[in-house]
Amino acid sequence: MRRPLDFVTSLATHGDVVRLRLGALPCYALTHPEWVQHVLVGGARDFTRGRLFEKASLFLGEGLVTSSGRIHHRARRAVQPAFHHQRIPAYTAVMGRVAESVVAQWRPGQVVAVDRAMNDLSLGVLANTLLPSGLGSRASAEFHRALPALSRGMMVRLLLPEWWARVPVASNRRFDHARHTMERLVGQAIAAHRDTGGDREDMLSLLLTQRDADGRGLTGRQVHDHVTSLAVAAVETTGATLAWFFHELGRHREIEERVHAEVDTVLGGRPPSFEDLPALAFTGRVVLETLRRYPPWMITRRATAAVRFGTVSVPGGAELLYSPYALHHDPRWFAAPRRFDPDRWLPERARALPKGAFIPFGAGAYKCVGETFALAEMTMAVATVCGRWRLRPLPGARVRVVARANIHPNRLPMVAEAR
Ligand code: HEM
Repeated sequence: MRRPLDFVTSLATHGDVVRLRLGALPCYALTHPEWVQHVLVGGARDFTRGRLFEKASLFLGEGLVTSSGRIHHRARRAVQPAFHHQRIPAYTAVMGRVAESVVAQWRPGQVVAVDRAMNDLSLGVLANTLLPSGLGSRASAEFHRALPALSRGMMVRLLLPEWWARVPVASNRRFDHARHTMERLVGQAIAAHRDTGGDREDMLSLLLTQRDADGRGLTGRQVHDHVTSLAVAAVETTGATLAWFFHELGRHREIEERVHAEVDTVLGGRPPSFEDLPALAFTGRVVLETLRRYPPWMITRRATAAVRFGTVSVPGGAELLYSPYALHHDPRWFAAPRRFDPDRWLPERARALPKGAFIPFGAGAYKCVGETFALAEMTMAVATVCGRWRLRPLPGARVRVVARANIHPNRLPMVAEAR
């Protein structure tokens, strides 16, 4: 596990279902799209989310990301309306404004920490679409500070034994402080919503106005858990993918030139808007290829009863692993998988892929609720940056891949050149 990405990609050479010895738990890795598709879609009823998510529920509560079965179904119905396609144009306007404010700080020749800039951008987009604007800039600044501490602390807690959380070290104090801040901010938002009715444009106001078939709304605790889950699921995933996009552009001049030419033709120097997204077709393919090369690397499920995958029997209670990263780098589905080739996503070539071979956002009932949001955000962000800046790799800077919850660069310093 010192080289987790090599490890997960090597598993397919041992079979389509591979038994692993990870402590006392029986554990199986699924390396064929057909079996992954079965667990996520066709046979999904026989599986819960598994160990990783169960552990996360200790500090994320029963938000959308950590729940399974009926509880998940109810949670999904409550959160889904915030991602309805009719809401995307309004979010896109926020995405454009936030991206503009990030690049406005850059100066020609400046070395930009692109990993941090993209994380800030993603955090800014989430804060400005999730929270009511009436909550004020102070609350928004607190949210900005609390969320990274919350995500980082959560990752450490997923990897380390449970007693670690009780050790009185600075990082645990920061995590507890971030959790309390989050609770207070959501409490404030709920109170403000009660007073004013909310502006209804943000996701939080929408969660607060949700009613189920019996007319019942969400409790404060449920709203809090959904908000925290959304924040944790949205920010670092999108931020890291954006950083990798610019890393790949910096390494492939010809692809960079095609993106710049498309952005110039479609936008003619003005900021992008929702209506421009379909016309940015090549840019969209570069985003997809970035998601193929740098997707989540490991996701768990648990079999609730004994199940057969072809000739392999898996006992009830077994943990299952699937890796979008391994599937995306399997030469059976992607020729020369390490080659960065956006034209793999030309419609006629993409159509030939088997179902389940490309799943950066998962599939089935637990599929990423933020997929359309994330794709719009990434396209808006890269079009905004590429309209004005060329980001060149900093000579001598070595960029390494770090696999934690998602795959992110250890650092990404790049030189901003005005276009
Ligand atoms: C590049 C960006 C992103 C990637 C690669 C990504 C990936 C994923 C994946 C693979 C899952 C499924 C996990 C599973 O099978 O258990 C997931 C779930 C989820 N994602 Fe994303 N995500 C991204 C961005 C976002 C954004 C922007 C949001 C919200 C604004 C979001 C919110 C969620 C939520 C709430 C879930 C849980 C859905 C459910 O259980 O019903 N994600 N994401």
